Amino acid sequence: MKVIIGNDHSGVEMKNELVKFITSLGFEVCNVGTDDTKSVDYPVFAKKVCSKVLENKDALAVAICGTGIGISIACNKVKGIRAGLCHESFSAMMTRKHNNANVLCLGARVTGIELAKDIVKTFLNTEFEGGRHQRRIDMLED
Ligand code: RB5
Repeated sequence: MKVIIGNDHSGVEMKNELVKFITSLGFEVCNVGTDDTKSVDYPVFAKKVCSKVLENKDALAVAICGTGIGISIACNKVKGIRAGLCHESFSAMMTRKHNNANVLCLGARVTGIELAKDIVKTFLNTEFEGGRHQRRIDMLED
């Protein structure tokens, strides 16, 4: 499975660590984030992440900004994207199982790197449960 990763300036260091980590888990990683710590605008990178996810039907993504809030707001404005902002692994598991989230948002200034790795691993390795949750997702899409 392809994993898209994108970030603004605040997320460069976390992104670099997560690219290594996600690769070590055996996934192909596609980096659409900035690699520069010069200030940029997170909506631009949210759009890049979401476009790639929509191009690759089975892909999952990780989107990073300082708090994770701005980039999650931006991602959730794109039709077909379900972005979950997670600060711990239980939410990462549930946002896959119940929300079929295709984007995991992280706050680089909020979450430490070891916890972020666990959140990412949980997100990537958890399947959507379908059933009644699909009906709710259909409602979101409508
Ligand atoms: C950038 O300074 C910061 O505002 C951004 O990364 C993010 O936290 C916004 O929600």
